[in-house]
Amino acid sequence: MVGRDSVGPKRSAKKHRGSTESRPTNAESKRVRIVDHPLVAAGLTILRDKTTMPDLFRRRLQEIAIILFAEASRDWKTASIEVETPLAPCVGAVLAKPIVLVPILRAGLGLLDGIIRVAPDASIGHIGLYRDAETLRPVSYYDRLPVNIAAARVLLLDPMLATGHTACEAASILKAQGARSIQFICVVACPPGVQQFQSEHPDVPIITAIVDPELNDSGYIVPGLGDAGDRYFGTG
Ligand code: URA
Repeated sequence: MVGRDSVGPKRSAKKHRGSTESRPTNAESKRVRIVDHPLVAAGLTILRDKTTMPDLFRRRLQEIAIILFAEASRDWKTASIEVETPLAPCVGAVLAKPIVLVPILRAGLGLLDGIIRVAPDASIGHIGLYRDAETLRPVSYYDRLPVNIAAARVLLLDPMLATGHTACEAASILKAQGARSIQFICVVACPPGVQQFQSEHPDVPIITAIVDPELNDSGYIVPGLGDAGDRYFGTG
């Protein structure tokens, strides 16, 4: 599923090889789940490659999102129900709580597009935040969340956890509207973002494909994958 299509990674990358990608400390790792899976690693490499075109970028991001979602939901409780196969009755399972997916606009939509394929019954909320040019702080311009958010498993979606300010603000909005069980799914995180998020929202686990080493002066994760929204929507 997540493999190399028409374009792929250059094998001569010098500086940021896989082994340079940092791992969180023990304290951080309690609430950071790095999904160490070959399909995720291969897909992430396609996303990182600057020659990957938007159509392939979209497919790989959506596929990675599904795997991260599977990991995020690994411990969710189910309730038993009876079902009849063509041969005999048997006991099956349904998720105990409804799912609410909340992409942070706009790059979070890429993760949503993947997850909704395997969670078609999920309700969807949206949070829009922009960065104020002077204060550099996130400012909310839109939010619309489902009414069942208090009873639901809420997944906050944004491919990049960079400074952490946007994710923190989004999680605060979710909590202010009643969300009680929140998980944050991203694809690339970095230590400053993880620390910021965990200091403000220690109760919200982070599920990510990788924690990259650095954040540059412009707030981009390095090596990262560039601007996730631009690459997903072909606006770069
Ligand atoms: N947002 C992105 O799209 N990329 C980064 O590296 C950081 C924030």
